[in-house]
Amino acid sequence: MDTYARFPITLVRGKGCWLWDSDGRRYLDCVAGIAVCTLGHSDRQLRRALQRQLGRLQHVSNLYRIPEQQQLAAAITASSCFDRVFFCNSGAEANEAAIKLARKHGNLVRGISAVDGPLILTAQASFHGRTLAAVTATGQPKYHQGFEPMVQGFRHFPYNNTAAFESLLADCEAQGPRVAAVLLEPLQGEGGVHPGNRAFFERVRQLCDQHGILLIFDEVQIGVARSGMLWGYERLGVEPDAFTLAKGLGGGIPIGALAVKQRFDHFRPGDHASTFGGNPFACRAGLTVLAEIERRHLVEHVQEMGEQLQQALSALVARHPTLLEGSRGWGLLQGLVLRPEAPQAPAVARAALAEGLLVVPAGAQVVRFVPPLTISARQLRRAVQLLERALLSLV
Ligand SMILES: Cc1ncc(COP(=O)(O)O)c(C=O)c1O
Repeated sequence: MDTYARFPITLVRGKGCWLWDSDGRRYLDCVAGIAVCTLGHSDRQLRRALQRQLGRLQHVSNLYRIPEQQQLAAAITASSCFDRVFFCNSGAEANEAAIKLARKHGNLVRGISAVDGPLILTAQASFHGRTLAAVTATGQPKYHQGFEPMVQGFRHFPYNNTAAFESLLADCEAQGPRVAAVLLEPLQGEGGVHPGNRAFFERVRQLCDQHGILLIFDEVQIGVARSGMLWGYERLGVEPDAFTLAKGLGGGIPIGALAVKQRFDHFRPGDHASTFGGNPFACRAGLTVLAEIERRHLVEHVQEMGEQLQQALSALVARHPTLLEGSRGWGLLQGLVLRPEAPQAPAVARAALAEGLLVVPAGAQVVRFVPPLTISARQLRRAVQLLERALLSLV
């Protein structure tokens, strides 16, 4: 169906940070399937691990114990502040699971009246996925239009705005407990690459603690080392009660996860399920990605490369002040902000494509860099050169 406005190329092969199209043209990949291909394309370790897994077992039902799933859950809980994990297949599904958990928390722990129903507070300009509840959580009206009525029980407030959050919370709680959860991205990716503000998140944490409200982070895009820390919440120094993962966790194999602290694990057998979620093949991918991040010291690598990219983008902004407003981001999720009067991000991405560089817009004004975490210093320098050429081709 015609759901995508696609760029006019067909990618048929990849190796590391390079992709080739059906005409044999080569592209430097700063999209990575939108923050998915953590280890780059056709990675040897991932390929071998998956080939071995295919030779043993691909899929069994969650009716039975799945060792690869238990191992991946153990790898996530050992490296994070969480204790329990539910696996699914995508970011939207992970957020659906989080939303159901939040509602159960509201009913069970906060005793929110069934008449009013629990509320979940999320940020304007957020992005949480395209299923009906996840898109309702998404604070961007353009994604709601034509799909009303939206799911009940969501309220939005401006991101990083402490006063607005306090005032919405006070309104919602005026007649008694009403808010089940706050769902936030530590850094808003799709909404324009806006890093979370530490003081704001600390205050949200404090208020959630005071009221017994669940604080959930959506780390679908920023999690799994992309921020320069293994988990996005480590960048903020604020621990959520639960978080969601997808994208980079499987390095290209679909997998999603909801991880929670023990005391918020309200799910009981029958509450939630997924046929494919956490199957041996997808979990092998997750296990290999996490193991390779550690073995290749990719967290440190992302810190270094992120700094280099940030500096290169700042220098680019300084060279073209009439076109560029600035740059922002964490690690290897960086956004180059275009001036309103400059060509828009989709046009810049198309021009970059013509130069042999893949980048992805985050809204009309931001060009997003989300390369494989294995990208080299040389490749990053090349990427910024190609982007500069693309910019100049448009003026
Ligand atoms: C922060 C965030 N949450 C959720 C999603 C949805 O993930 P998926 O497309 O796997 O459903 C995305 C996708 O861009 C995202 O960036």
